[in-house]
Amino acid sequence: MSNTVVVGTQWGDEGKGKVVDLLTARADLVVRFQGGNNAGHTLVVEGKKFIFHLIPSGILYEGKKCLIGNGVVVDPQVLLDEIERLHGAGIDVGPQRLSLSEKAHIIMPYHKALDLAGEEARGKEKIGTTGRGIGPCYEDKAARTGIRAIDLTEPDTLKRKIETSLKEKNFYLTGFLGSEGLNADTVLEETLALGRKLTPFLSDVSMELGDALKAGKKVLFEGAQGTHLDIDHGTYPYVTSSNPVAGAACAGAGIGPGQLHHVIGIVKAYTTRVGAGPFVTELVDQTGIYLQEKGMEFGSTTGRPRRCGWLDLVVVRDSARLNGLNSLAITKLDVLTGLETLKACVAYEVAGRRIKTRPASLAQFGRCEPVYQELPGWKEDISGVREVADLPSQARDYLNLIEKETGVPISVISVGPGRQETIIIKNPFDN
Ligand code: GDP
Ligand code: IMO
Ligand code: MG
Repeated sequence: MSNTVVVGTQWGDEGKGKVVDLLTARADLVVRFQGGNNAGHTLVVEGKKFIFHLIPSGILYEGKKCLIGNGVVVDPQVLLDEIERLHGAGIDVGPQRLSLSEKAHIIMPYHKALDLAGEEARGKEKIGTTGRGIGPCYEDKAARTGIRAIDLTEPDTLKRKIETSLKEKNFYLTGFLGSEGLNADTVLEETLALGRKLTPFLSDVSMELGDALKAGKKVLFEGAQGTHLDIDHGTYPYVTSSNPVAGAACAGAGIGPGQLHHVIGIVKAYTTRVGAGPFVTELVDQTGIYLQEKGMEFGSTTGRPRRCGWLDLVVVRDSARLNGLNSLAITKLDVLTGLETLKACVAYEVAGRRIKTRPASLAQFGRCEPVYQELPGWKEDISGVREVADLPSQARDYLNLIEKETGVPISVISVGPGRQETIIIKNPFDN
């Protein structure tokens, strides 16, 4: 019995989807516990590419149950489209395969409008959100004015909530943001129609998980975003509006901390970031372009180019502590192949001081200079390697440095996007 949490250790897009798909072979249930369709998790299975925004990445395995926990914010149209696309690919996604928590908050049309208009109004200060309404939906959840999935089954409650919300939202949208307001009747009608389609999927996810755990089933928790996008621990305010850290798996799925046995941190072999915010190891030179092109670093949700840079081990070290990481999965090691010299940031220098953790002050973080350790690169194609011993010695030295600096052992190494392009040192479910 080893329930496992998969979390991103950087700024998202570390390859969580691929690792979740891989580990699902040993799990019985897969659960998303935070975020929404700001996530884009890509899997490549038998040469076919799948991108999931809301449905857990375990859905491709027949007989495994996928659940969307209460901590997730759900755009009903996006979820229905995703179900439809899977049907089109011959994958049956009925309520027996997928549950949506009755307590999950719903992203409403006005959340998207507020997200987009809010970003526009911020001008140069914009966060670079995905524009999916994530922040405004979590704002309403915290303000206790949100709409939950269960409300979609109660037309009177829904009507009252939409009317009350829109009075305030329309005032703000038109009066302050100079945008257009929304019509309450139209929003109600559209939401009820979507709700009718989603009703069969509604479930008490916490109860389902509780029963499964009692029956000795294994659960995989799929984090979205990354630790440094965490609303509490990330590079605030350049963060998302949820807690991607492992601890959030409990509150966001409705289970207790004692049920989590292994936390695996996904580390891309270099660093990327979408959206704004300081990035100490960013490369705005040919090497940055090389990583972007070779790593195909373009967002799977918005298509935006991802900013690229050297591996920042200060960031990963902080993530080891913040998530209580038990092991690491290193992804995209193959992308580094061909670089003459590799650099990994092991500390920062700021105001004449050397520090080994990211400062809370964003201004100070913006002034941090990287302290690099340089290592020689390798030229050999490693995408066919399946044993650590068969990796070039330079690649093994690079991996050793990651383990040394973070104090966390590596359990998985990914050398290509495909399910098979993986070196498994120790499966977390074997613990
Ligand atoms: P996630 O959001 O953490 O699931 O990551 P994304 O799916 O947004 O981005 C990771 C991208 O890298 C996807 O396109 C994956 O198919 C791809 N990928 C994952 N692992 C590897 C790897 O080891 N090598 C290469 N070349 N690509 C990978
Ligand atoms: P996955 O799960 C990378 C970033 C956005 C923006 C900030 C806030 O695929 O790793 P939001 O729309 O959440 O309010 O945007 O967070 N962001 C991500 N970056 N991967 C993600 O998800 C992200 N989800 C949000 O680019 O900077
Ligand atoms: Mg992604």
